[in-house]
Amino acid sequence: MSFDRSIKIAPSILSADFANFGAEIRAIEDQGADWVHIDVMDGHFVPNLTFGPPAVKAFRPHVKTFMDVHLMIAPVDPYIEAYAEAGADMIVAHWEAGPHPHRTLQAIKAQGVKCGISLNPGTPANVISELLDLVDMVLVMSVNPGFGGQKFIPTSINKVRQVREMIGDREIHIQVDGGVDPTTVGPLVEAGADCFVAGSAVFKGGSVDKPEVYGQNIAAIRAAAEGALKAAQ
Ligand code: DX5
Ligand code: ZN
Repeated sequence: MSFDRSIKIAPSILSADFANFGAEIRAIEDQGADWVHIDVMDGHFVPNLTFGPPAVKAFRPHVKTFMDVHLMIAPVDPYIEAYAEAGADMIVAHWEAGPHPHRTLQAIKAQGVKCGISLNPGTPANVISELLDLVDMVLVMSVNPGFGGQKFIPTSINKVRQVREMIGDREIHIQVDGGVDPTTVGPLVEAGADCFVAGSAVFKGGSVDKPEVYGQNIAAIRAAAEGALKAAQ
């Protein structure tokens, strides 16, 4: 089966109702989410605190699609096993989180989990050239990590293009995360990205009582992405 580089929308639950995660996860999946993006923050690597392994374990039974765990923590290695045991389908670590990203990726793979490497906006694409034979995904951050609702950083478009070039025909997803909405997703598709995290652009205006708004928001991002894909062919 050929590698699935089709458009995937991964809502981030960082923008969800923090008193209602199970219902929110079920709502976004019912409304068309392809993946569920879990933003783990430690108050050290980023100036915010979110989910430990027990919280991610509690989310797991509600996720029927794919649980994409974005570790914005440093150090990473001591926590990989706990997040794998919590049920992550993919664990993404930041290149900037420590001196041994190659070993970190090996440790994630050793848990039998898909692995990804994430680049902050200030980190050039070429730093991952020695990691491409290990990863299942490269995450290009289009905001400085720590919060939802931030402004998209346009230089990430060219970085996606560079990463796409470096990947060649390897079976690696390119994910973009931060400020993704129907106005920013098109150029990212043209540059070669296939997976799009969206928090505020998905959750804005909706709730578990108005989940159809999530569906409309996801559909708007997907329509813009599919439109750009068609135009690029
Ligand atoms: C930021 C997180 C992102 C964020 C996306 O550190 O990694 O996943 O939640 O939120 P929006 O889509 O609102 O920028
Ligand atoms: Zn994220």
